[in-house]
Amino acid sequence: MALTGSARIGGARTGGARTGAKAVHGSAPTREHTAADDDVSKRLLESAATLSYDPAIEIDWDAPLPDDHYGLNPEWSTLYGTRLWDEMTERQRVTLTRHEVCSIMNTGIWFEMILQQMVLRDQYLKNPASAEFRFALTEIADECRHSIMFARACEKMGVPAYRPNKLIAQAGRAYKALAKGELAYGGILVAEEVLDVMQRDWMRGENVLEIVRGTSRIHVVEESRHMKFARQEIRERTRHAGPARRRTSATGIALGAYVIVTSMVHPGVYRAAGLDTGRALAEVRANEHRKAMMRTSSRHLMAFLAETGLLTSRSAAIYRRIHML
Ligand SMILES: [Fe+2]
Ligand SMILES: [Fe+2]
Repeated sequence: MALTGSARIGGARTGGARTGAKAVHGSAPTREHTAADDDVSKRLLESAATLSYDPAIEIDWDAPLPDDHYGLNPEWSTLYGTRLWDEMTERQRVTLTRHEVCSIMNTGIWFEMILQQMVLRDQYLKNPASAEFRFALTEIADECRHSIMFARACEKMGVPAYRPNKLIAQAGRAYKALAKGELAYGGILVAEEVLDVMQRDWMRGENVLEIVRGTSRIHVVEESRHMKFARQEIRERTRHAGPARRRTSATGIALGAYVIVTSMVHPGVYRAAGLDTGRALAEVRANEHRKAMMRTSSRHLMAFLAETGLLTSRSAAIYRRIHML
């Protein structure tokens, strides 16, 4: 599928009132939102107006799924590189990768719901004339389309909804209700960065289902703006943050990353592929290929966290446990 932009969503034109230098429109006393900060959001709004997609039109939802196409590139399967992978039939590999991609998409939907609520809470009664406010709402609209797109893709692949366990679901409920500032935007950035690296490979995978390639292309384009916005928000919110607050936020973001990374692939995917769940999970835990993929794909994120003082010894220990460092 070539994305032509024909199903483009026209974004709001930027312009309007320019936020004056050092105009503070947040309630947090440490927050300073300058004209330069708002310029970042203005550029993102211009980009959104030029290149945004409507997946309902852009994806060929009726095209049949070729039997031999994977759900994601085999190298991104949690079992790739293990003895169990070598023993599996081609049919099992196809089934496993389809369930894995749908599990990751379901985690994506779960996290996009958390994200939308956090961003909406953050922008509550902020200045509607600012580009920051308008981009935040544009991002929420993007996430809404993404979640519907992922839901349709999973339905098309015939994979049931995989959900996080009750404890993790409750933790997510607390996080979406309470997190703010760099803690909220840090969690958002982690989820978006991890997914972005995988989807850049999925959209190019020649033996990957077109429905996955197309949805990944749309997501990569629109999420690159979200990641820029999250980085900008984190820089702003930590500009005057003292070491104690940075340490607390750093740990909170790392715990968020732990939850996201460990929830991405549901254990039910192995049974769906006709595998022994216990053996599969043991092989995934010892899979050096998987660990190397995680470390490589987290390099950019770790560099940013270090630059903003959000990579502390405690948070680094958590990232090491999930092989992001
Ligand atoms: Fe998204
Ligand atoms: Fe996003």
